[in-house]
Formats: sequence, C-alpha cells, structure tokens
Amino acid sequence: MKFFLDTADIKEIQEAQETGLLDGITTNPSHVAKANTNFTALVKQICEMVPGPVSAEVTAPTKDEMLRQGRFLADIAPNVVVKVPLTAEGIKAVKVFTDEGIKTNVTLCFSSVQALLAAKVGATYISPFIGRVDDIGIEGIETVREIRAIYDNYDYKTQILTASTRSTLHIRDAALAGSDVATMPMKIFLKLINNPLTDIGMKLFDADWEKIPEEYRTY
Ligand code: E4P
Repeated sequence: MKFFLDTADIKEIQEAQETGLLDGITTNPSHVAKANTNFTALVKQICEMVPGPVSAEVTAPTKDEMLRQGRFLADIAPNVVVKVPLTAEGIKAVKVFTDEGIKTNVTLCFSSVQALLAAKVGATYISPFIGRVDDIGIEGIETVREIRAIYDNYDYKTQILTASTRSTLHIRDAALAGSDVATMPMKIFLKLINNPLTDIGMKLFDADWEKIPEEYRTY
C-alpha cells in the first residue's frame, strides 16, 4: 500500500521524505490556507520535493471553471494530480480530464456508489473520507471494503485512496481492505513507526550489551 502525506506543510513533507516511506502528497484548500503562501508556487515546490503524485484541488463549482483551474494545475508539473469534488459538475469535468490524459483524484467521496461513478469516468484515484464518516457514527472503512469489491467486480483501474484517516487503526484497516493508498496527517505517519514495546526492547538490549566486557564488544 502506498503512503501519501495529507499536508501542504513543507517541513512535514521534508521530514516524511527522509524516511523513504513517502509515495505522494494530498493537499486541500484547508491545508493551503494554513501554509499561507502563493498556491501555484507552493504546488510547484512540493512537486519538486516529491517525485510521486501531488494532488492539488480545484475550487470552482462549475465544470468549465474546474476545467480551466485543473488544466492550469496540471501544467505546473508532470506529477500534479487534479483533485476534483464528487459533484455532478465534478464528474463531468473528470470525464474531460480523463480524455485529455490529465490525472485526477476525486475527493469528498462518502459512498461506494459515488466511487462507482468516479471509476466510470476514469478517475485515477477515488478518495473515500473514512474519518468524517466515523464522526457521524457510521463505520467509514466499510465504504472502502465496498469500493474494493465493486472495483474488483468490474476490473476498474481507479485506485482507492483512503482519506480523512485519524488513527493508525485506520491505516491498518485500509491495508486489510485492499486500499491502494492511504493518505494521512503527519502525526499518524509518525505514530505508525513508534511502538513503546520497541523502545523498551531497545533499552533491555542496551543494558545487556553493557554487561559484556568491553574487549568483547567488537564490530
Ligand atoms: C484528503 O485528500 C483530504 O485532504 C483529507 O484526508 C481530509 O481529512 P480530514 O477529514 O481530516 O479533514
């Protein structure tokens, strides 16, 4: 499963990049607002730092304006993926982007039937938001399981990008459900690595290593 970082924070991207685990980036208007800098320059900078796919979102409500914004974004760098909301206008725009060879990430997906529509118009990625579904008391990961089954039934090539992840359990569940990608905030990315039992184990080994006479501790 690929790991994307859900952020527009350059420092976080740099730190995640150094781990060798990072496959791509997803941004959204909320992340860009936090970065408080020029949007085009920011997308360009992220695309230069990360060779993998970088999602940048359109903000227009109509197909024609989405197309204008999306073509502009796609021209910034070859690894830009145009992020389009799962609305009727968004679906129409994705169809055109697909025909033009522009990669898309259909976002704000909350059901498997919505995901079916995205696959039918050739979306590169579909982003089911599982955390926001959990927030209203419904198990969000179930949507990912349903999408996997539907896509496999018809051999759709659209990749499932599990989004709105809030815990390491979400990442585990996404992997078990066969999600192609999980995007996550930095704090979850870091939590995947750390485990208190690993730290305790390290301390025990260190203590035992110190018991060995120094002349025997050769490398
Ligand atoms: C995905 O592409 C979105 O940017 C993101 O995962 C939304 O997460 P949130 O529900 O935590 O805002």
